[in-house]
Amino acid sequence: MRIRQHVNPRDVFFETFRGEKPALDPARELEVEIGCADAQFLFERAASDPARHYVGLEIREDLVAWVNDKAAKLGAPVHAVFCHAQLHTTAIFPRGAASRVYVNFPDPWFKRRHRIRRMVDQVLAEQIAYLLRSGGELFVQTDVWDIALDALRSFDGDERFVNRAGEWTFWKDGNPYGVRSWREQNAEETGLPIWRILYRRA
Ligand SMILES: C[S@@+](CC[C@H](N)C(=O)[O-])C[C@H]1O[C@@H](n2cnc3c(N)ncnc32)[C@H](O)[C@@H]1O
Repeated sequence: MRIRQHVNPRDVFFETFRGEKPALDPARELEVEIGCADAQFLFERAASDPARHYVGLEIREDLVAWVNDKAAKLGAPVHAVFCHAQLHTTAIFPRGAASRVYVNFPDPWFKRRHRIRRMVDQVLAEQIAYLLRSGGELFVQTDVWDIALDALRSFDGDERFVNRAGEWTFWKDGNPYGVRSWREQNAEETGLPIWRILYRRA
């Protein structure tokens, strides 16, 4: 299948929710990755803890189909949903549905002139504050310094998120989940710096 490299999230086409809501079982803990791409991270989480449910939000529709096809073939508790995360998260989930939210290497839009297309901002923080249950975890990681600063600005500036390492401080103990996203694996293998931040939902 041919996968598009990027789409422009500012395109009006993405304003309408065209995806399918996943069927959620309130008895199972839910983990959500925002901008999941191939969902390598979620498939590895599902392999290590299959009792939970894993949902990836993704704006590239062809990747969503690819992930759902793979999940069906493996019988894995992973679902991808085609959506614009900043606009549609509250329409997809009930309030407080997730016990973890991952934002792994969120953007291809690291150039300053593309700043307006970036995913991590106060609008996304609002959606994540709605999605995460009280005491739930938000984990953000990126290899782009400007995006790490966007994340600190968006979440440390919001009293609903408590930075586990201390205010405006990066998480120094590596990825605590024992699985890696595709981009994370790539960044580690090529020796790029990675900035990580771990929050608890107040
Ligand atoms: C750089 S990739 C990282 C993918 C994966 N998380 C990883 O670490 O390997 C960022 C992903 O976020 C998706 N994305 C960007 N903006 C989005 C938005 N507003 N809503 C949903 N997905 C988005 C992109 O299509 C892309 O697949």
